[in-house]
Amino acid sequence: MSTMRANIAKGGTMKVAKGVRGVRSVRAKASAVPLPDLPYDYGALEPYISGDIMKLHHQMHHGTYVKNFNGLLEKQADFEQKGDYASLISIQQAIKFNGGGHVNHSIFWKNMCPKSDYAPPSGALGKKIDETFGSLEALETKMSAMAAGVQGSGWGWLAYDPAKDNIFVTTTSNQDPLVTQGNYVPLLGVDVWEHAYYLQYKNKRPDYLSNFFEVVNWKDVEERYNAAT
Ligand SMILES: [Fe+2]
Repeated sequence: MSTMRANIAKGGTMKVAKGVRGVRSVRAKASAVPLPDLPYDYGALEPYISGDIMKLHHQMHHGTYVKNFNGLLEKQADFEQKGDYASLISIQQAIKFNGGGHVNHSIFWKNMCPKSDYAPPSGALGKKIDETFGSLEALETKMSAMAAGVQGSGWGWLAYDPAKDNIFVTTTSNQDPLVTQGNYVPLLGVDVWEHAYYLQYKNKRPDYLSNFFEVVNWKDVEERYNAAT
């Protein structure tokens, strides 16, 4: 995505020349942020994650975040154009929530793959995981424990810290994207909102987490790590 398109997708603005009097700032008439397709069928992660969950989660939950995010970006552009900065500021929490929901789920879908495509991490990421956590199993145990401990709704993360060149596990609340904690790169995210597992696992979040690790797309995680480093 070009810098300009990325900026517009974030609800950014485009500087447009306005005669000799300088520039004015208007939101480009870009198409709305789309709900991305899943890279596999809804039932492709069974039996680890049911097709019913995947369909509902993608169409209804992620779909709603995208719909709300687009509405908020339109509002933000209107407020900016009118110079109504108090109103613009008042919607930032909603933008963080719905935009975060879109950002987080967009990573999450790609972080998983059918079991038939599963392969453990190798290369530079595999080495880094062993150095940092001791083994892949140790990473999974630590990340599962932290994600299981999220009070209410949120996300568990394997993240990369460019400043320290290290990887670590952490959690965020609600739909806060990882960037709200610092300049970190999300490598692997796991959704621990009840909507991600309740239909199949009821209140057993740890069971969902251990099954999630059966369908992690480590190739995708590795690509994110390689791009970040
Ligand atoms: Fe979700």
